Amino acid sequence: MDVIHVEGNGPLQGEVTIQGSKNAVLPILAATILIEGVCCLKNCPHISDVECMLNLLESVGCRICRDKDSLKVDASNLKETRLPKELVSSMRSSIILLAPLLSRCKEATLNYPGGCVIGERPIDIHLYLLKKLGAVFTSEEDFLKGRLKDFSGTTVHLTFPSVGATENGILAGVLAKGRTVLMNCAKEPEVRQLCQFLNSAGAKIDGIGTECLTIEGVERLYPVTYTIEADRIVAGTYLFSAVATRGRIGILNAPIADMEAAIAVARQMGCRIFEGSNCLEVWQPDRPTAVKKVKTMVYPGFPTDLQSVLLTTLSVSKGESVVEETIFSNRFKIVEELSRMGADIKTEGNCAYICGKNNLHAASLLAEDLRGGAALVLAGICAHGESFIGNSHFIERGYEDICRDFRMLGATIEKMR
Ligand code: UD1
Repeated sequence: MDVIHVEGNGPLQGEVTIQGSKNAVLPILAATILIEGVCCLKNCPHISDVECMLNLLESVGCRICRDKDSLKVDASNLKETRLPKELVSSMRSSIILLAPLLSRCKEATLNYPGGCVIGERPIDIHLYLLKKLGAVFTSEEDFLKGRLKDFSGTTVHLTFPSVGATENGILAGVLAKGRTVLMNCAKEPEVRQLCQFLNSAGAKIDGIGTECLTIEGVERLYPVTYTIEADRIVAGTYLFSAVATRGRIGILNAPIADMEAAIAVARQMGCRIFEGSNCLEVWQPDRPTAVKKVKTMVYPGFPTDLQSVLLTTLSVSKGESVVEETIFSNRFKIVEELSRMGADIKTEGNCAYICGKNNLHAASLLAEDLRGGAALVLAGICAHGESFIGNSHFIERGYEDICRDFRMLGATIEKMR
């Protein structure tokens, strides 16, 4: 099994540079299907979800060329509209290929998508909005087939501001006939980046960063070069790691403007944060104090993707806290593992009640999802003794090399071979 070995050894210190954003690069890679010619994406993270998306793109006929952090995607000649089952079922984000494939090839077939097991993850909003724009779906056993004459612009109100569904709506609208208005959209920075990429390729999207996007369909899009911004969730992971270990670190290339909610919670815990132009200097001089209540929310609220790391941090803070998860059910899977390390956490419905402890003790743990896995690594760094975190491949879905990064911050940590 893939295992990370970590020894708890005091406050983190040093500097870490933040990789490109997973949740930005995945939909932008999907968007390259809409463009005949070679697009170049810079600052792409080396993570397994990107590898999976590249394999999906290759499976439909895209040609990929990688040079360090740059990726060139040539979608000039597509040959296939059925996505391979094993790839689709290993990554939920494969659903964002639905609109580009339909738009470009007029049909798409895929199995129901997989990904981290963090509760019910239906795709009803994706299908609802693509149907409103003209697609027809039939479902057989475990796969879904979509067909289309043309996407035709209309007004669609999303029942929930789903990130992926908003992205599918945008990807359908850019080459649709006429005007598409998407209401109650997700406002996440990664949605903004997708819009900026598409507009630089010739799309006409208005209202970027707001809950109402207006898209005038254009005839075609043109190849572009685009740089992926830094990953706010990875930056937030190291921010809370400094808080939890009473560390003093520099987070270089941090997307500070997109991290307000996380920074505000860290400050409430007693963290001193200096915001440079794209560097966060973080110092937690004393044991962190508990925050009364944190509720995960859609952007600009506190991100659900940082909830697990926050749980670890609150487990070693002074006082009692409540964390309410409003986005994904079943995202408290790490509570059992943290409890085995001596954390005092009880869950009831979508709330976790945490009573901070002075110390955690080392243990052998199992990651069950990406963000939970990173939070267990942090717990190992906070604990006394040697911990082992199994199933580290989950962490590699979103972190280029969490061991390398934590070593830059002085931790004793390695992936076991
Ligand atoms: C994206 C992010 C993920 C993040 C999540 C919420 C990517 C690649 N992943 O996931 O890291 O945790 O946003 O910020 O960008 N829902 C439905 N029906 C749908 C679609 C979603 O009920 O058709 C529900 C989901 O079950 C969930 C909630 O809406 O409860 C949020 O999901 P969504 O915003 O779609 O998340 P993703 O796009 O999958």
